[in-house]
Amino acid sequence: MAFNKGRKSSKGHLANSFRGKDFISIEQITSQEEINFLFSLADKMRGAVVEKRQLNLLDDSTVAILFYQPSTRTFTSFKAAAMWLGGQRIIAIPGMEAYSSAIKGESLPDTIRTIEETTRADIIVLRHPDDQSSEIAARYAEIPVVNAGSGKKEHPTQALLDLYTIQRELGGRDGLKIVMLGDLKNGRTIKSLAKLLAVVAPSTEITFVSSPGLAAPPELVSDLRKKGVVVQERENLEEVLSQADVLYVTRIQKEWFASQEEYLKVKGSYVISPELMQAAKKGMIVMHPFPRVDEIDPRFDKDPRAAYFRQMANGLYIRMALLAVILGRN
Ligand code: NCD
Repeated sequence: MAFNKGRKSSKGHLANSFRGKDFISIEQITSQEEINFLFSLADKMRGAVVEKRQLNLLDDSTVAILFYQPSTRTFTSFKAAAMWLGGQRIIAIPGMEAYSSAIKGESLPDTIRTIEETTRADIIVLRHPDDQSSEIAARYAEIPVVNAGSGKKEHPTQALLDLYTIQRELGGRDGLKIVMLGDLKNGRTIKSLAKLLAVVAPSTEITFVSSPGLAAPPELVSDLRKKGVVVQERENLEEVLSQADVLYVTRIQKEWFASQEEYLKVKGSYVISPELMQAAKKGMIVMHPFPRVDEIDPRFDKDPRAAYFRQMANGLYIRMALLAVILGRN
C-alpha cells in the first residue's frame, strides 16, 4: 500500500497496512492478507450491528463525506458506518456539485483544503465525476482520502464489498466463473472488481458480456490476461449464462451518453427475468451494485439466487472496517 500521509504515520500493528493512508485505487490491495484482515474485521462489524451494539472506535474522529455525484447506497453506508463507529462529528454533504462553492468555480484542491481547515476532519470520503479526482484530492489533503467512486475509472470500496459478498455467498472456491454484464465501458464497478479478482483470485474466469460499443476497455482486458486471468468477451448472454457462478449485472450508465437517442439504442438490451434465469445454475448468485433501472425484473427478487440486497448490506460492514483501519482504531 502506498500513499502514506505525514500526519498519521503507520506505527506498530504490522497487520494494518491501511493505517493513515489514502484508499484511492483498488490496485493498492496487493495481497490476500490485506483482504483477510479487512474481511475478518467486517465480520466483527456485522456482529456488532446485528446485536445493535454501538461502537466507539471513532469517538475522537471527524469524518467528512463529500459527494459530487448522486448516491444512495455508498453515501448512506459511509455515513452510517461513521455513526455506528461512534463518530461524533460527521460532515456529510450530498450534492456538493450544486451546494458547495464548486458552482461558483472553486477548484477541487481549494475545496479539499477548505474542508480540512473548516472541519479539522481526520478523513475525507470523496465521490466525484472526474477519473483523477481522488488522486488530486489525496495530493492536496494532509489527511487520508477514501475514493467512494471516481468518474468511469474506480470504485474501490464497492470492489471490496463485492468480493466480500462473493466469498460469503460462495465460499473461497477456486476457479469461479463470473459473468460481468451491461455497460462495461462506462461503469466503474466492474473495472475495480475485475482488477481485485486478478490479484486475490487469479483463477477466476471472467466473461464480459455487453452490447457493441459498451465493451470493457481493451487495456483492462489485456491487463487481466497478463495477470493470468482467463477472460472472454461475448454479446450473447444465453450462451454463457448456464456456466456462471456469479452473474454481475450493471446499469447502462445513461449520464455518460452523448444523447438520449444513443442511450435508447442500448437500453433494455439485457433483462434478467425469472424465465431467463431458469437456464442458470441453482447455486449461483446474481449481483448488481445498484441502482437498477430495467436490467433485473423485480419478480426475480424473491429467488434465493438474487444476492443484490445482501450485497448492499455488506457495504456497511466493509466501510466500517475500512474507516476503522485507516483511522487506526481496530
Ligand atoms: C454504482 C456507482 O456509483 O458506480 N453505484 C454504487 O455505488 N453502488 C453503480 C451505478 O451507478 O450504476
